[in-house]
Amino acid sequence: MTATLIPTPTPTTAAMVPLVAGIRTAVERHVGWAETAELVAEELRLHMPTPDVLTPEQRLGSPDEYQGHTLYVEPDGSFSIVGLVWRPGQLTRIHDHVTWCTFGVIQGVEHEELFDADLNLVGESDNHVGDVSGFAPPGDIHRVHNTTGKTAISIHVYGTDVTRSGSSVRRYYD
Ligand SMILES: [Fe+2]
Repeated sequence: MTATLIPTPTPTTAAMVPLVAGIRTAVERHVGWAETAELVAEELRLHMPTPDVLTPEQRLGSPDEYQGHTLYVEPDGSFSIVGLVWRPGQLTRIHDHVTWCTFGVIQGVEHEELFDADLNLVGESDNHVGDVSGFAPPGDIHRVHNTTGKTAISIHVYGTDVTRSGSSVRRYYD
């Protein structure tokens, strides 16, 4: 993610409790990053939040850039849950990550492009509501773009405390 993270975690809603518990169980297995991302993806499919985990104001997004709202941080810093809101046309820079990441779309469509180390486009997909993907470095250089005319919202889970590091990004490539 490249948006400025709004630092104060939003109070965790009751609807998030099963998701948090499931992710915790997955992370506590202490398997490798790629496998953890897949285990967390299973939990996200089972317990996908609805857009109302964000406030109506948060769901509006910002005209300036896409917004990241920290929804939950595990007390030991082992994972964070962030809600990202993209108005039409908003996009990330090309970037990779410091840790595994799993995300699911809860409103609209997100267009994702995947690049190799020489920044050749090696894959792209349109992710719709209910679609969940998990990935882990290396090989996670990507860009996300809302190419539609409707605001898109996704839930991202990262294997770190994003409020401590400020971001999940390892490096920008543009
Ligand atoms: Fe990303």
